[in-house]
Amino acid sequence: MKILDACCGSKMFWFDKDNAHTTFMDIREEQFEIHNKKVNVCPDIIGDFRNMPFDDHIFDLIVFDPHI
Ligand SMILES: C[S@@+](CC[C@H](N)C(=O)[O-])C[C@H]1O[C@@H](n2cnc3c(N)ncnc32)[C@H](O)[C@@H]1O
Repeated sequence: MKILDACCGSKMFWFDKDNAHTTFMDIREEQFEIHNKKVNVCPDIIGDFRNMPFDDHIFDLIVFDPHI
């Protein structure tokens, strides 16, 4: 099973944030603190879902949770 999380953000969606089946992508990489809580946006790939850097049909499942 190959999964793409195309807008992974800080991966709050995931219990296992290092899931080996999943490629984590986001348009940004950054760390910051808000209300004494650390936010870590650390994707495997920095990319834009409007122009994805992947071949067609290589993922079985895509998680898509953008805010525009
Ligand atoms: C609602 S947050 C995702 C939260 C994430 N699902 C989680 O579990 O933490 C939306 C994310 O979409 C990313 N994003 C916005 N525009 C994007 C784009 N064009 N390509 C890739 N990611 C984008 C933002 O940087 C942000 O991290």
